[in-house]
Amino acid sequence: MAACSPMVLPTASRGDLLDEAARRLRRAGVEGPRLQAELLLGHVLGCDRLRLLTTDRQPVQAQAAANVESLVRRRVEGEPLQYLTGVQEFRSREFHVDPRVLIPRPETEDAVEACRELALGPSARIADVGTGSGCIAISLALETTGAQIVGLDLSAEALQVAEANARRLAPDAGIEWLQGDLLQPLDSARPPLDLIVSNPPYVTASEHRGLAPEVRDHEPREALVSGATGLEVIHRLVDAAPRYLVPGGALVLEIGLGQWSAVRQMIRSSLSYTEPAARPDFQGIPRIVTCRTRSPRP
Ligand SMILES: C[S@@+](CC[C@H](N)C(=O)[O-])C[C@H]1O[C@@H](n2cnc3c(N)ncnc32)[C@H](O)[C@@H]1O
Repeated sequence: MAACSPMVLPTASRGDLLDEAARRLRRAGVEGPRLQAELLLGHVLGCDRLRLLTTDRQPVQAQAAANVESLVRRRVEGEPLQYLTGVQEFRSREFHVDPRVLIPRPETEDAVEACRELALGPSARIADVGTGSGCIAISLALETTGAQIVGLDLSAEALQVAEANARRLAPDAGIEWLQGDLLQPLDSARPPLDLIVSNPPYVTASEHRGLAPEVRDHEPREALVSGATGLEVIHRLVDAAPRYLVPGGALVLEIGLGQWSAVRQMIRSSLSYTEPAARPDFQGIPRIVTCRTRSPRP
């Protein structure tokens, strides 16, 4: 009697499979093909890159090889690596992601940093608008003390991902998750917030058509597109936020390339805020905007 079914017969070694996967990804023009091959293989075999590289002569079972083959094919066809492996690191934590949510970007880590720099007191009330995977809300829960955090999103599906991430990463944080348009789910009986943070959709419909197919065809359109100018959601948020903030409360917003001067003007002309400041990303692009609501005149 055969020891294994044909599906689990040994085939090539890990090293061979890795070389072949990297070759196919390179040929398809995928950036960093070797690293991506290692991550896909490591995902299928359930081991990290170091272990993979130190066990490269080990044979791979046929079923695992077929799984790698299928993931490499999907990657070559343009599916983002993170949807294939199901994870994206954000502030050194692994967030689960799938096509229900935007893949968190490194620039957004600075929004969390900007919030931390506000040095809000313990038990600060914070809302993360357009929470997606929950990366901002959960990071703040883990990097502040005693904050009361609510994550909001128009997408009920995105909130399922955020809630699952919170159960895994911050089970004791008591983050509340609410579905609806911007801040509307917060009822008027709630105490006002100390901080509203958001990485809102800020891409125009025509910019969206020109995005890399990997982003355009796979990440949720409603997470990216705001309207004809790209500023529509930011504008509604800047308008609404003062009604939900304490005097002196902070608004922290991620914005897109080339939007700083329009957003600064928008904030100035609302007359509800102090002078906004923008922090540049690693490419020098003004990316994270911070301002505070004015305190009432004595
Ligand atoms: C750019 S993604 C940001 C996701 C996550 N915060 C991050 O930084 O990775 C924008 C998110 O806003 C949500 N969204 C879009 N329009 C919204 C609205 N009107 N009200 C609430 N959420 C909205 C989308 O579903 C999406 O999850």
